[in-house]
Amino acid sequence: MPLKQKIQELKKKREEVQMGGGEKAIEKQQSMGKLTARERILTLVDDESFHEYDLFVEHEARDFNMDKKTLHGDGVVVGTGTVNDEPVGIFAQDFTVAGGSLGLMHARKITKIMDHALKMRMPLIGINDSGGARIQEGVNSLAGYGEIFFRNTLSSGVIPQISVILGPCAGGAVYSPALTDFVFVVDKISKMFITGPEVIKTVLGEEISMEDLGGAKVHSEITGNAHFYAESEKECFEQIEKLLSFIPWNNTQKAPIREPKPPKPEFKNIEKIVPGDPRQPYDIRNVVRAIVDDSDFLEVQELWAQNMVIGFGRISGETCGFVCNQPRVLAGVLDVDSSDKAARFIRYCDAFNIPIITLVDLPGYLPGIDQEHAGVIRHGAKILYAYSEATVAKLTVILRKAYGGGYIAMGSRHLRSDFVFAWPGAEIAVMGPEGAANIIFRKEIMGAEDPDEMRKEKVKEYKEKFANPYVAAAKGYVDTVIEPEETRKLLIHAIDVAKNKAVSGPRKKHGIPPF
Ligand code: HXC
Repeated sequence: MPLKQKIQELKKKREEVQMGGGEKAIEKQQSMGKLTARERILTLVDDESFHEYDLFVEHEARDFNMDKKTLHGDGVVVGTGTVNDEPVGIFAQDFTVAGGSLGLMHARKITKIMDHALKMRMPLIGINDSGGARIQEGVNSLAGYGEIFFRNTLSSGVIPQISVILGPCAGGAVYSPALTDFVFVVDKISKMFITGPEVIKTVLGEEISMEDLGGAKVHSEITGNAHFYAESEKECFEQIEKLLSFIPWNNTQKAPIREPKPPKPEFKNIEKIVPGDPRQPYDIRNVVRAIVDDSDFLEVQELWAQNMVIGFGRISGETCGFVCNQPRVLAGVLDVDSSDKAARFIRYCDAFNIPIITLVDLPGYLPGIDQEHAGVIRHGAKILYAYSEATVAKLTVILRKAYGGGYIAMGSRHLRSDFVFAWPGAEIAVMGPEGAANIIFRKEIMGAEDPDEMRKEKVKEYKEKFANPYVAAAKGYVDTVIEPEETRKLLIHAIDVAKNKAVSGPRKKHGIPPF
């Protein structure tokens, strides 16, 4: 056969495989507002940059009539491309082929691109749209997932791993994303669960819709499994592109440096954002916007544990990770979920050479039976561990309240922050003046002719003594008390000073964080 004819044959074969599960299945996919696997990849990567591999892989299953079935590409599209002109490894499960279920060869395609991504030190993006382990392939499918989980763990902290949930994902199809760094979901399209509503009904007799069990909102607001929520697939891919503009390509690099820009004029007056009365709420995100270049803040897990705000912004062109109490929600307390949220983000920044900026304004850890029984001791300890362990530049600004354990936990000097600045309105103490006065002056207050008057006097006395930054500054726990408008300037300087930071701890295989 002449080469020309062979080329024609190749083209025909390609076209056939690229039809996935066929026209009808593609129409069904599109009728649900979903793109096909290849369309998704092409939307995400730079134009003309995608190259597909293992297009002609076939499954080898023989049971349950599988030998009579052709599954094009074995239900997954894999390849390499570029995003923001930098290379990425990528796979997208094709729901039109056996529900994107994962059999042995499907898994091998994924693990091959995972190995490439790790070897080439480039990010791996996984687009998940799968019913999980392919039931007909039995233990081979389970083995496939095991191989994926192992590689997820191996790559963790070396290359960024991004998961996109774009369909009903069950079983292994959600555990791999759970091992990755960032999970993206889309309203009405994404569903994540270990077992779907059918199984739950059979086993427990409970009825629930897929959406209520594991829809995009559930995982963005309640479970915290998702990091980014979008209204459409297009918006989701734009979010991924933006995230990739903030983070380094692997753990040996720094994030790409951008042209420095000042904050936007509407956020110029930083001092006005924070009310003087420590009981007044405000939106900490506006303080971040008043600090970062172009007021451009990419918030992570925006809808979950909102008493803690985390995300990326640039200072003088360099990406920084922000960890901030949010006084607008539960006064910014630390609790089970906010501790988990902050601790994981701190570890991400530390693994990928991103300086951490902590903005402090909190009354402490949240007391209560619910929190105690939910394990606030164990979860709260994660944030202590994460800050103590992190060796990237750690810069802390105490804006207002920093009470009790909250003061220690939020990037204090004692957990080895490199620079700790405090605004003049900062209150650094074991607890708030009212609570403190009630305890230490109880006898005087109870024995006074006018207990209310005496309480006021004692609160005033306590405030004057402790509710300020100067006691901590006198001991060197705070490096300097600054005017709010000096914050950005000092942070720029501190990042520069810390650029060659080198610290080392005792030799060990690894620590044992309070997982
Ligand atoms: C084989 C599967 C499949 C699977 C779906 N399909 N899931 N084939 N193995 N796991 C096939 C269906 O048979 C159907 O084929 C096609 O994909 C589309 O599925 P539908 O059910 O028609 O779609 P939908 O109604 O949208 O429901 C999607 C779904 C549901 C919610 C994902 O299919 C489902 O519940 N699947 C099973 C989920 C599950 O329990 N997976 C195993 C998890 S255990 P046809 O030929 O009719 O088009 C696991 C182990 C790892 O993953 C655990 C690690 C810790």
